[in-house]
Amino acid sequence: MTRPVRLAISGASGRMGSALLSLLGNDARFELVHAVVAPGSAHTGQPVFAGDAGSLRYADGWTQAPALDVVIDFSGPAGLTLALDHCLAHGMALVSGTTGIDAALEARLASAGSSIAILRAANFSLGVAVLTRLLREAAVALPGWDLEIIEAHHGRKQDAPSGTALVLGHAAAAARHTTLEAAAVCSRVGQTGERIEGSIGFAVVRGGDIVGEHTAMLIGQGERLELAHRATDRSIFARGALQAAHWLAGRAPALWQLDDVIATSK
Ligand SMILES: NC(=O)c1ccc[n+]([C@@H]2O[C@H](COP(=O)([O-])OP(=O)(O)OC[C@H]3O[C@@H](n4cnc5c(N)ncnc54)[C@H](OP(=O)(O)O)[C@@H]3O)[C@@H](O)[C@H]2O)c1
Repeated sequence: MTRPVRLAISGASGRMGSALLSLLGNDARFELVHAVVAPGSAHTGQPVFAGDAGSLRYADGWTQAPALDVVIDFSGPAGLTLALDHCLAHGMALVSGTTGIDAALEARLASAGSSIAILRAANFSLGVAVLTRLLREAAVALPGWDLEIIEAHHGRKQDAPSGTALVLGHAAAAARHTTLEAAAVCSRVGQTGERIEGSIGFAVVRGGDIVGEHTAMLIGQGERLELAHRATDRSIFARGALQAAHWLAGRAPALWQLDDVIATSK
């Protein structure tokens, strides 16, 4: 695309939305044309870029959205549903990082790939993409070792285990020729009995301002392998989402992966 990509952000006033806005100020690849917040949000009608009264203002929906190329969504299940409806109605591309969605919305997103270009990732960091590959390899190389996934996030996070922890679990389960549905143990309390052989356990930490930490622990007899990733600044997710949005603009309808972006952006 030779002109700037016309972009909308769904969830523009949130933590991730704010990280995107601060990067967009210096990014000539994009023109931000719409910024959506929750219905009834206190941000509605406020200038998106503080101190610039004439600039774009937060909108609490899509009815006034101008023509655009790509929507980036970091909102929540309800916000993602509305963004998806808008993209489907107008043939626009969608990049979404929203996690904690149910099976029905998951299925709608999967089938949307036949009519629009769509890219979802539970974690837009390059480091996590590599962690996922390493975990697949370790899960195969150490088949009898117990696997536990521990994640930590800030106290306002709404879903658990994190979308990234689940992606890691799915990757390891598939590498061991099983499914996460069959292998996952998401809580242990009371008389749990012995660890189930071949299970994948999850543990969740919530507190303070933790941006996002994931450790995959492979535990053998007398030794333990830990693969860990720690995000200290949420701009890494915003940078990854912008890279994905630029890559996705003008692409054919399909359900694209972050791996596709990484593979062709080198
Ligand atoms: N994939 C990744 O790399 C990644 C990284 C970080 C976070 N996430 C995920 O991204 C999502 C957002 O995280 P966050 O920390 O930025 O959340 P947050 O700070 O709570 O922000 C949520 C944003 O969504 C807006 N919103 C809520 N309901 C909406 C609706 N129905 N329609 C439109 N907008 C709506 C909120 O508007 P108001 O507050 O103005 O009402 C706010 O702007 C979560 O699912 C989180 O797990 C993913």
